[in-house]
Amino acid sequence: MSIHKEVKVITTHILSEMKFNGEKIAMLTAYDYSMARLVDAAGIDIILVGDSASNVMAGFETTLPITLDNMIYHGASVVRAVKRALVVVDLPFGTYQGNSKEALNSSIRIMKETGAHAVKLEGGIEVKESIIRILSAGIPVMGHLGLTPQSIHKFGTYVVRAKQEDEARRLKEDAKLLEELGCFAMVIEKIPAKLAEEVSQMVKIPVIGIGAGGGVDGQVLVLHDMLGINQEFSPRFLRRYHNLASEIDGAVKNYIADVRSRDFPNEKEQY
Ligand code: KIV
Repeated sequence: MSIHKEVKVITTHILSEMKFNGEKIAMLTAYDYSMARLVDAAGIDIILVGDSASNVMAGFETTLPITLDNMIYHGASVVRAVKRALVVVDLPFGTYQGNSKEALNSSIRIMKETGAHAVKLEGGIEVKESIIRILSAGIPVMGHLGLTPQSIHKFGTYVVRAKQEDEARRLKEDAKLLEELGCFAMVIEKIPAKLAEEVSQMVKIPVIGIGAGGGVDGQVLVLHDMLGINQEFSPRFLRRYHNLASEIDGAVKNYIADVRSRDFPNEKEQY
């Protein structure tokens, strides 16, 4: 019997049972009430209120500018819509790396002011103290290794990570550490599929991949990318499930034409 079909509400414990049972976990991002409602009703397991909101909602080039207040606004909007999925909110850049007390305060604000179920942060050994402190307050933490977009200025590009032996070894050590510290799951982004599969087999917690192949425990995509709202971003790992940009373009053009031709509103569409 599939666990995800049985349960009414997804918890961190359900996710770990799904991994144990060999059931793949489906995760998508969402940033607002209306989209989150649709995504949740369709049966997604995890909704990530990602700091990719900085790109797709606010139009910034990187994820660095988005603030904690912004993330709380998006997180609270999503939580109001969700009945079943586990909601995870990204800790934005600069709110957890400095010191563990700040990391805890940022996480408490997210949990209190959004009603989300967990936080996500990027990094391994370098954010160890922050993870320990957040977990000690009873807040579930999801890790994020591989391509970590908040460090884009350190790496300089968004190319595939951990292709070299020493980076792959460090990634595995970090993955083991996240598990030992007590993270309930981790995202691994844009690394070779073979390495991702090894990581998934090495740890008991669910490993959710993006650009990390099919050998992991689940997949995540950015909603605006997979729906084809955002057309500029087309990495190899992205499967587009719809071409919403052209549908929206067509609908808006039809509306404009109807307004100009006085076809809209007609007699039935007025009081
Ligand atoms: O912010 C985000 O959308 C993410 C996903 C790409 C995993 O971190």
